[in-house]
Amino acid sequence: MYKITEKKNLGNQIIQIDVHAPSIASKALAGQFIIVRQDEFAERIPLTIADYNREKGTITLVFQAVGFSTQALMTLSEGNTILDVVGPLGMPTEIEQYGTVVCIGGGVGIAPVYPIAKALKAAGNRVIAIIGARNEELLFLEKEMASVSDVCYIATDDGSVGVKGFVTDLLQEVIQKESIDHLWAIGPMVMMKAVSETTRPFNIKTTVSLNPIMVDGTGMCGGCRVQIGTDTKFACVDGPEFDGHLVDFDLAMRRAAVYKEDEKKAVEQHEC
Ligand code: FES
Repeated sequence: MYKITEKKNLGNQIIQIDVHAPSIASKALAGQFIIVRQDEFAERIPLTIADYNREKGTITLVFQAVGFSTQALMTLSEGNTILDVVGPLGMPTEIEQYGTVVCIGGGVGIAPVYPIAKALKAAGNRVIAIIGARNEELLFLEKEMASVSDVCYIATDDGSVGVKGFVTDLLQEVIQKESIDHLWAIGPMVMMKAVSETTRPFNIKTTVSLNPIMVDGTGMCGGCRVQIGTDTKFACVDGPEFDGHLVDFDLAMRRAAVYKEDEKKAVEQHEC
């Protein structure tokens, strides 16, 4: 059993929990994820590790309660336990000293991009962070992102904080001023596609994380099958990070949409 040692409500159904999982915390690396099963009746949920504390033996998870299982997970409080936490899984981010790097997080994607920015900064890179959300209330980890970057830009759709617009608007400006050696983008699929199309003409190496399309995270359901150039890959086993210029985003988004209807039905049945 894995105890929730801290819980924070970040707003808009976005929850942050610290879970006591010493063996995972001792091995976790940026870019990896875990699988949570709340109890014996629950389905498995893959969640990216947003942070870890090796001394305390805790991992930090951030999730948005949009489906039946994440809504159930949201009801747990500090002191409650989770039946299974398996990991760390997935290929870790390739952390090197690249030079100048850009880390973009959109919406809930800010959480998984934070440990990557932190590790890249620790490796000696100049880190430019760009984070975005629909409005100020939906933004989180601003201070944490600022603390691990040399400069941190913010974009909101309504301009309630930072620049009014999208992360890609800010990225266009950064591209004009900086020589970028590598870029990471994590967020909604449409955002990662837009970022990849923005960097493509400039040949900026762009890595995206396809954790949004994972279903059970085991390599068995086939739900995270993606086309990467001419290769077929599984996001949970071969990724979750891939070259954004090779990802067939349209196919991946069509596949992810297949599960939306089932998820909606599960939530509706639960509410009946
Ligand atoms: Fe099921 Fe990858 S999430 S195969």
